Amino acid sequence: MTATHAPARTAVLQLTGVSKTFGAVQALKDIDFDVHAGEVVALVGDNGAGKSTLVKTIAGVYTPDSGRMVFGGRQVAVGSPAEAQQLGIATVFQDLALCDNLDVVANLFLGREIHRGRALDEVSMEQESWRLLRQLSAKIPSVRIPVASLSGGQRQTVAIARSLLGEPKVVMLDEPTAALGVAQTAEVLNLVERLRENGLAVILISHNMSDVMAVADRVNVLRLGRNNGTFAVSDTSSQEIIAAITGATTNAVSERASRREKTPDLGQADGPQLEKGTDR
Ligand SMILES: Nc1ncnc2c1ncn2[C@@H]1O[C@H](COP(=O)(O)OP(=O)(O)OP(=O)(O)O)[C@@H](O)[C@H]1O
Ligand SMILES: [Mg+2]
Repeated sequence: MTATHAPARTAVLQLTGVSKTFGAVQALKDIDFDVHAGEVVALVGDNGAGKSTLVKTIAGVYTPDSGRMVFGGRQVAVGSPAEAQQLGIATVFQDLALCDNLDVVANLFLGREIHRGRALDEVSMEQESWRLLRQLSAKIPSVRIPVASLSGGQRQTVAIARSLLGEPKVVMLDEPTAALGVAQTAEVLNLVERLRENGLAVILISHNMSDVMAVADRVNVLRLGRNNGTFAVSDTSSQEIIAAITGATTNAVSERASRREKTPDLGQADGPQLEKGTDR
């Protein structure tokens, strides 16, 4: 486990006060979030907490209603997933979007093929594939077999390797171990550690507390579309994080106090209407 970073370091990516509504649903409310180079930040929260919305906002799929996003020291507005990629923000979505019938090389270079004259430069693409996979210490038996014949962990590896092609600074992984067994999960967590060693900023969405505790440096908890605490893994417990996820402990005391000061009569109107029994 690496130590958490000194607060003085500048974040690669920093969001401040980001909000996003879908009609009447406030999916994100005043979210602050940051991640540093060589750091793994886990993004956790219950179903509907806003994790995917936050990732999609960073990835340029959604435009935030308000808030600021600073990437590499300058304020950015990410208009599309292609723009995010160009900036250096890569996302591995949960469905991976691999083509089962194509081999590993073809999947890695899909839409970004290397050409030599008018023909595909298969040799260069194969060499580059091995280079990428070695960099991740990935266990792939061959780059010339269809992705359909790979294990779940190996498929995840291919998807992650593909996200690295554009030499990103930030990689977001949405539930990379959700469908995996014990050994494959260990493989993917290893990979996350390789990404960190290579100096990338990693954002890991996970429901699995042992994965989070094993690999993350910091944990950012979302609850009902709001921040509900950031924890350094080195000085917290999974119980403490679970309590923040479920709302057993919340920023509620300070939140309630500040709401009383600012907006005494908003009641339910300013929060996401996602769950019964919220303290809002
Ligand atoms: N495109 C959309 N249109 C309308 N509402 C949406 C949309 N996307 C998300 N929401 C709503 O925003 C809230 C946050 O959803 P989000 O998918 O971000 O949660 P999540 O934390 O990723 O949950 P899960 O763990 O179930 O994936 C939910 O109430 C959801 O129904
Ligand atoms: Mg989600």
